[in-house]
Amino acid sequence: MSALIVRQALPEDAANAVDVLRASITEGCVEDHQHDPETLALWLHNKTVETFLRWLGTPTTHLIVAQHSSNLVGVAAINGQSHIHLLYVRPGFYRTGVGSALLAELERHALDVGASQITLESSITARSFYERHGYSSAGSPKPGFGISRAFPYAKALAR
Ligand SMILES: CC(C)(COP(=O)(O)OP(=O)(O)OC[C@H]1O[C@@H](n2cnc3c(N)ncnc32)[C@H](O)[C@@H]1OP(=O)(O)O)[C@@H](O)C(=O)NCCC(=O)NCCS
Repeated sequence: MSALIVRQALPEDAANAVDVLRASITEGCVEDHQHDPETLALWLHNKTVETFLRWLGTPTTHLIVAQHSSNLVGVAAINGQSHIHLLYVRPGFYRTGVGSALLAELERHALDVGASQITLESSITARSFYERHGYSSAGSPKPGFGISRAFPYAKALAR
């Protein structure tokens, strides 16, 4: 995709970023939540401007966004233990390389801070995406939000 910029998140991104998170979960993760209202409510509960600003103020969290023209099209974060905390793309921009660009920046950051591997817990929806990027299953699925399950993955980082 031309003119895709991946950059550090800013406080003024909060409303658009939360919009991306909520739309991506609601419309993109249907296989996971199956439109179960309780599951959706639990998953969306902390996807608020207040929480986004808290993540932004956490020094050990690297919170980034992807921007296409003036449109915020993706949000991702990795914490100090090199665990990917979230990675969501705006519906309408799937399969256009946004997720890959965000993941590449998280991996670059993890290498920069001396990590030897990255871990994460994937939705059903994102498993093929992470496998395509060299992540391997790292254990049995854990309970996620409501009826959803979280699939552990890991990848060793090449220096
Ligand atoms: C999963 C997600 C982050 C992937 O981002 P994306 O921008 O669509 O992915 P990319 O365009 O960079 O895809 C790169 C490659 O990953 C694989 N891939 C991505 N999405 C896939 C899917 N739904 N099914 C199968 N393979 C997929 C493909 O090999 C793809 O390359 P191709 O399009 O040339 O075949 C995005 O679809 C999303 O936000 N989904 C909903 C929210 C979610 O589940 N987030 C993850 C929470 S853990």
